[in-house]
Amino acid sequence: MATNNEDQFKKVVAHAKEYGFIFPSSEIYDGLAAVYDYGQLGTELKNNIKQYWWRAMVQYHENIVGIDSAIFMHPRIWKASGHVDAFNDPLIDNRDSKKRYRADVLIEEHIAKIEDKIEKECEKARKRFGEAFDRQQFVSTNARVLEHQKQIDEIKERYGRCMNDNDLTGLKQLILDLGIVCPISGTRNWTDVRQFNLMFATRMGSVIDDSDTLYLRPETAQGIFVNFLNVQKSGRMKVPFGIAQIGKAFRNEIVARQFIFRMREFEQMEMQFFVRPGTELEWFKYWKEERLKWHLSLGLPADSFRYHDHEKLAHYANAATDIEFRFPFGFKELEGVHSRTDFDLSRHSEFSGKKLQYYDAELGEAYTPYVIETSIGVDRTFLAIFSHALKEEQLEDGSTRTVLNLPPMLAPYKAAVLPLVKKDGLPEKARSIVDMLKYDYMVQYDEKDAIGRRYRRQDAIGTPFCITVDNDTLQDDTVTVRLRDTMQQERVATANLQQFLSDHLRPKVQ
Ligand code: GAP
Repeated sequence: MATNNEDQFKKVVAHAKEYGFIFPSSEIYDGLAAVYDYGQLGTELKNNIKQYWWRAMVQYHENIVGIDSAIFMHPRIWKASGHVDAFNDPLIDNRDSKKRYRADVLIEEHIAKIEDKIEKECEKARKRFGEAFDRQQFVSTNARVLEHQKQIDEIKERYGRCMNDNDLTGLKQLILDLGIVCPISGTRNWTDVRQFNLMFATRMGSVIDDSDTLYLRPETAQGIFVNFLNVQKSGRMKVPFGIAQIGKAFRNEIVARQFIFRMREFEQMEMQFFVRPGTELEWFKYWKEERLKWHLSLGLPADSFRYHDHEKLAHYANAATDIEFRFPFGFKELEGVHSRTDFDLSRHSEFSGKKLQYYDAELGEAYTPYVIETSIGVDRTFLAIFSHALKEEQLEDGSTRTVLNLPPMLAPYKAAVLPLVKKDGLPEKARSIVDMLKYDYMVQYDEKDAIGRRYRRQDAIGTPFCITVDNDTLQDDTVTVRLRDTMQQERVATANLQQFLSDHLRPKVQ
C-alpha cells in the first residue's frame, strides 16, 4: 500500500471508516474540516501506539519521566515561546476561485513537479541502459537534468531568502514569476501574501478583556518547559534527564488535508531531554538514531524512512532533522528531532522572572540546560502504520483477501475466539476461553457466519490470532490457532494459550 497512488490512499480512508477505525468528525452535520473521530477499533490502535511510545521512552529509560500538563496555560507562555509573534504560515488567496493556499506549499509543490521531471528522465535512462545505468553519473552529466536542477536551486535560494527575511512581497513575486496557477480556477489572479497565526484563541472567565485571551496549545512541549523545575526538584532528577508527554495540540492549519496527516486537532508525543551545554550535539545524534530504531522496531521497512536534515535552522536551534516516512502520497515528515539550545528555558526565565537553572554538583556550577526534543504526531504514526499495513493479497485459489498486517502488539484485538459451530457446547467452551484471556488481552468472541468469513473479518481488522474451538477441543482441550499473516494453523493446548500470546506479543523495542 506504500506507493504514491491516489486510489490506494482512498482505500485506506474507506477501510478506516468501514471497519470503525476513523470517522469524519460531526459527520451527520456534514463534517468539520480536518477534524476526525477515532472509532471503536481506531481508539484501541491509537491507545496501543501511545502505550508503545510511552514504554519505549519512559518505562525503558530510568532518566525519563512523564507528565500530563493542562491544555490551558498562562497566555504569556506563548509570548515567551515565540508563538504569538512567529507561529505563522504565509497565506495567499486566489481571487477567482476564492480558495486559500499556503504560499510556501505552492512553491514547494512547484519544486516537487520539477523533481518529478528529473525522476522521469532517470526512469527513461534506466530503461535504456538497463543494468549499466549509473544514476549518480547520469544526474551529474545529463543536460536536461542539470537544467532542471539549476532551476530548483535558484528557486530554493530565492524562496529560502524570502522565508528567512519574512519578505512576503518577494514570496508573491516568486509565485508570479514561476507562473504558478490556482489548481481550481487555473488563473494567476493572486492576492498579496499575508501572515496567518495558527493558534486558536479562546477566552477564560466571564470578563471580556484582552487579558483573558487564552490559546489552545499548538504543541505539548511548552507544558514540559514550564514544569522543568517542578519535575527536576520533586523527582530529584540529574542532568541528563528527559520529560515526556502525550497530549492534544491544536493548529488552525490553512490547508488541512490528506486525511489525518494534517489536522486542526491532533495529538503529539513529545520528549524534552535536558543536557549539559556543549554536549547537545552528541545527544542530538543519539536521539536521531534512537528514534529511527523505534520506528523500525514496529516492523516498518527501512526504505520507507529517510532523514531530512534542516539546512535552514530556526534561530534557536543548532541542529534539526525530520524523520520522513513514505506515506501513500510520498515522503513526508513523521517526527522531528531538534536541538533547541537553551532558548525555551531562558525565555521562560526572562518572561516569568523565575530562574530556570540546574545546579550540577559534579561541575560545581549552575547553568541553563540545553534541550534535545523528539516530537512525533500520534495521528501521523497511526496513518503510517495503518496505510503500510493495509494489503490486498492474491491467494492461490484465485481469490483476494484484504488483510491489515498490523504489528501484533498494536492490533486492536489480539485474538478472536471462534466456535466452529453454534452448538454441541462449542460456544460455551469458546466463551470460557474468552473469560480466561480477557483480563490480559483484548479478545473478541464471534460465532456468526461460516468460519472462513469470520477469518476474513478478523484479517480485515488486523487480529493476529484466531482461536478456533472444534469438537476435538472438548476431547483433548486443544484449539486451532490460525496466524493472520501466513494463514497457517497450529494446535495449541488451551492451558498454553496465555503463554502463546505473551510470546508472540512481546514488544521488540531495544
Ligand atoms: N514541539 C515541536 C513541534 O511541535 P512540529 O514539527 O511542529 O514540532 C511535531 O510538530 C510533529 O507533530 C510533526 O512531526 C507531526 O508528526 C505532528 N504534527 C504537526 N502538525 C500536525 C497537524 N496539523 N496534524 C497532525 N500532526 C501534526
